[in-house]
Amino acid sequence: MSIYSSQIELLNEQTIQTVMDDTSLSRLGKIEIFESIDSTNQYLLEKSKVYKSGHVCFAEEQTDGRGRHGRCWLSPKGTNIYCSVLWHFLKQDVANLSMAIALMIIDALKKYGMNKEMKVKWPNDIMFEGKKLAGILLEKSGTGVVIGIGLNIFLPDKVKAALEGNATDLCEIMSEPVKRNYLAGLLLNELLTQIPLYEKGGLNAFLEKWHHHDFLIEKKVTIHNGNKNITGVVKGVNESGELLVLHEDEIIGFRCGEVSVREKLSS
Ligand code: BTN
Repeated sequence: MSIYSSQIELLNEQTIQTVMDDTSLSRLGKIEIFESIDSTNQYLLEKSKVYKSGHVCFAEEQTDGRGRHGRCWLSPKGTNIYCSVLWHFLKQDVANLSMAIALMIIDALKKYGMNKEMKVKWPNDIMFEGKKLAGILLEKSGTGVVIGIGLNIFLPDKVKAALEGNATDLCEIMSEPVKRNYLAGLLLNELLTQIPLYEKGGLNAFLEKWHHHDFLIEKKVTIHNGNKNITGVVKGVNESGELLVLHEDEIIGFRCGEVSVREKLSS
């Protein structure tokens, strides 16, 4: 058991708000914090017709946390950040919103003081040294998009083992206890400031940053897309957020799919 497990602070609405800047506070609907809930995404999806943009929900524990591709998101109590934000997108297509959100999370982590190199794995995982630090699940209901974020702060050994060594957490990376309320406030600052930028101009404003943090660039990967598996070398992403893969002398753009890394090409 890590020395950090006993030093985790519980989330508190007032403390989070003291970290938030005026712009973000003006766009914040309400912060709800649940001690335990099935899924913060499910909760906001159910409320999406009545709640406005900027409604935020955190939970200390999720009993039915959801991940991408129908997987579950292990959500032990009082350790990580499980957060969902509701936003109504009236004009913008949100096909590649999750890529922009991944970069907003990186910005928040940098402001927190995480100065080691983080990467984004298309479409939206945040990686540190090849292990997953955070994941994003977007779910839609009408104009409402629920942006669900799972950020690993402290993963108990049992959970790390269940994730087969593919996940990491902030306590491990920074070798110190993490101020969860401070980080949650910084996260909301980035989301509530930058989501409107995406709403206005789409992915364009985020592309350069994506290229800078791209985890998959020049890696040999297999894309699992429906019942097709295609192997090739990643050449980046285009303005639409498609993953560009060189496969048998042809560049193929993928809109969705799951990527597994085969090997790193030697440079
Ligand atoms: C992934 O598979 O990478 C996405 C994980 C998203 C998990 C978060 S935790 C908060 C929100 N509520 C959920 O049920 N899922 C998302």
